[in-house]
Amino acid sequence: MTDRRARFKRDGFLVIEDFNTYAECDSLMDRAEILVSNFHLEGEATIFQTSEQERTSDDYFLNSGGNISFFFEKDAFNGDGVLKRDPFHSLNKIGHAMHDLDPVYSAFSRSPQMKELAEDLGLTDHVLIQSMHIFKHAEIGGVVDVHQDSSFLFTEPLSCVGFWFALEDATRENGCLWAEPGGHKTTLRKRFKRTKSGGTEFEIFDETPYSTDEMIPLEVKKGTCIVLDGLLPHMSLPNRSAKSRQAFTLHSISSTAVYPSDNWLQRGDLRPI
Ligand code: FE2
Repeated sequence: MTDRRARFKRDGFLVIEDFNTYAECDSLMDRAEILVSNFHLEGEATIFQTSEQERTSDDYFLNSGGNISFFFEKDAFNGDGVLKRDPFHSLNKIGHAMHDLDPVYSAFSRSPQMKELAEDLGLTDHVLIQSMHIFKHAEIGGVVDVHQDSSFLFTEPLSCVGFWFALEDATRENGCLWAEPGGHKTTLRKRFKRTKSGGTEFEIFDETPYSTDEMIPLEVKKGTCIVLDGLLPHMSLPNRSAKSRQAFTLHSISSTAVYPSDNWLQRGDLRPI
């Protein structure tokens, strides 16, 4: 077993410094600005916040698995529903298929170092199912409640692995990730799925609350990759600082696992790392 794989199995996460060059990080941040500038706000913008399940149940969200979609911070609008600042600095994230639909994101997602990492971790049968560019802008960047990624990318057996790329330095001040070493040795609490009526709901497996007491801040430099076990509870706090904290995330699943047809995220053909 490789050293990386042993540490990943032990801790449930793996921090790899200098995984991407500054130029590679900048290429995604520059690309995001271009995508946003080409995006025209139509109708009601979608606000993303994991604690507000009902807000994420609209068609725009449910169709985003196969699209490049834009989600705003909940505090981005004034009482009249007008953006308080420019669209770029109002966004929470872009998702969820840039890694397949956009050449810049695809190149980042299928870099030589990603292929080597997938081999090191024994993920050679994995396919990329979802991507997000998370802005966590200065002052407005929202909280991400403690969660397990397998709740949102459920397979039988469980197989979800997350890759979190720091496009900028991530610190306690600007909302870095928090997780507990070994915290993945637990049960899956719930699963986010589609209902027959066209909405979404959580199916509860285990009501044991997440423990955050032993979580530590994963403060990392620009260019770092953090790999996350799908069972590892993790979170990030709001960014009230003056420094943005952009990150890109990828999630993979085993191509041999069963992907239920009522998972919230649905899309067609999936391509390997
Ligand atoms: Fe996550």
